[in-house]
Amino acid sequence: MSKNLNSTRKRYHLFEDEQIDHMYFDMSTSGEVDANKYSLYNFTGDPKLEYAEWESRLDMMNSWFSDMKNSKRFLYERESIDGSKIISSVVDPETGEIRKMLNFASNDYLNLTQDKRIWKNVNDIISQYGGGAGGAPLLSGSMRIIKELQDQISKMKGTESSIVYTSGYAANIGTISGLLGHKDVAIYDMYSHASLIDGSKGANKKFFAHNDAKSLESVLKNIQNKYINKLVVVDGVYSMDGDICNLPEILDVAHFYGAWVLVDEAHATGVIGKNGRGTVDYFNLEGKVDIITGTLSKSVGAVGGFVSASEKLINYLKYNSRSYMFSTSPYLPAVAASLEALKLIEQNEAGQDQLWRNIQYVKSRLLNAGFNIGNAETAIFPIIIGDDNKVKEMTYRLHQKNIFVNPVPYPAVPRKLTRVRLTVTAGFSKDQLDYTLDQIEEIGRDLNIIK
Ligand SMILES: Cc1ncc(COP(=O)(O)O)c(C=O)c1O
Repeated sequence: MSKNLNSTRKRYHLFEDEQIDHMYFDMSTSGEVDANKYSLYNFTGDPKLEYAEWESRLDMMNSWFSDMKNSKRFLYERESIDGSKIISSVVDPETGEIRKMLNFASNDYLNLTQDKRIWKNVNDIISQYGGGAGGAPLLSGSMRIIKELQDQISKMKGTESSIVYTSGYAANIGTISGLLGHKDVAIYDMYSHASLIDGSKGANKKFFAHNDAKSLESVLKNIQNKYINKLVVVDGVYSMDGDICNLPEILDVAHFYGAWVLVDEAHATGVIGKNGRGTVDYFNLEGKVDIITGTLSKSVGAVGGFVSASEKLINYLKYNSRSYMFSTSPYLPAVAASLEALKLIEQNEAGQDQLWRNIQYVKSRLLNAGFNIGNAETAIFPIIIGDDNKVKEMTYRLHQKNIFVNPVPYPAVPRKLTRVRLTVTAGFSKDQLDYTLDQIEEIGRDLNIIK
């Protein structure tokens, strides 16, 4: 380990952060990496790493990683042995024992991953189609069941047409990279999901302040005639904050300046809008949004992604979106599960009302206890702490109480906004919510997060 670390002689300024702005990661003197001082970003995302050789990059990252694990605060990759259940059986990373844990870390908002009504349909489809599609959609992987799913998505989203991808990530990068040429630009809300931002790798991109139509306007004013096409990109519901996009104003501004708008409905589908139709329906903007993308992996409880838009645009993407064209069609049992789940959602039979009762209850208790939950309005609750050590400590203590939540440290969010992220699903009983909220309050007081 230290051999490789010592072999690199450059000094790297690895931090852009307020607190440790002037720290240098000096590999000529340090053999071990202190996990309290560094984050994953320092070994994977920092642009200055381009000066480091792979060998030493790997060594640094692995040293950080083992220090994290030794500190007994490493709560990523906790393994479940029975899926994404409300009470999941999770392997404890410290002891190897199985813990029955309340799962407040899943995006399965309607608990449809476990819905037996869906499995019946999946079994029928498996006996008709088998498993994989065996080819890409333009070649041999074009299947009727996929077309049925695409039609169901178009119906939900109120668009002319849709195509499905193997994941939401693939849908976002494939759509954005398929549209953007060198003379075009993507303009992102600064909290946009990584899959959206990755779509414009190597292309022109700008950012505007989160959910701020005025900030968007000033970006658009500044670049008025510089680009041929402009695409404004937003999330319907923000994945780390649970707030809803200010879509009406953003749409007005974007269209005024001749830009198109793409909304990623990953966390909105199944949650907001009539019967869970999403953000566009929530604001009565059907037919006004240029492109809607989303995933089948969250409320829908399966896996896969989609894009919905005009027929002309979808036809264009079919032959210009590389993650669609050059990838085998989605796994057919997942297609069948998604189709059945969307039908249940359409009929309001997927537990949406119970989800909303749970959301309102959790929200009121977190606010009454004095937690900072930002502008959370949906099933995602950030408990904003602004101190990475307290974030890790709270996650660990909740783990000890058999409550599974996710830590969101820097650099996933700015250092002042680091948080514990809690997701609420429909199936929790009031007792389960009360137990969890009582523990959160007690730990919050003990760590001086609330009074
Ligand atoms: C906002 C958003 N968009 C897209 C994705 C990607 O979806 P998938 O998990 O289906 O690749 C996610 C999931 O992590 C997400 O949160």
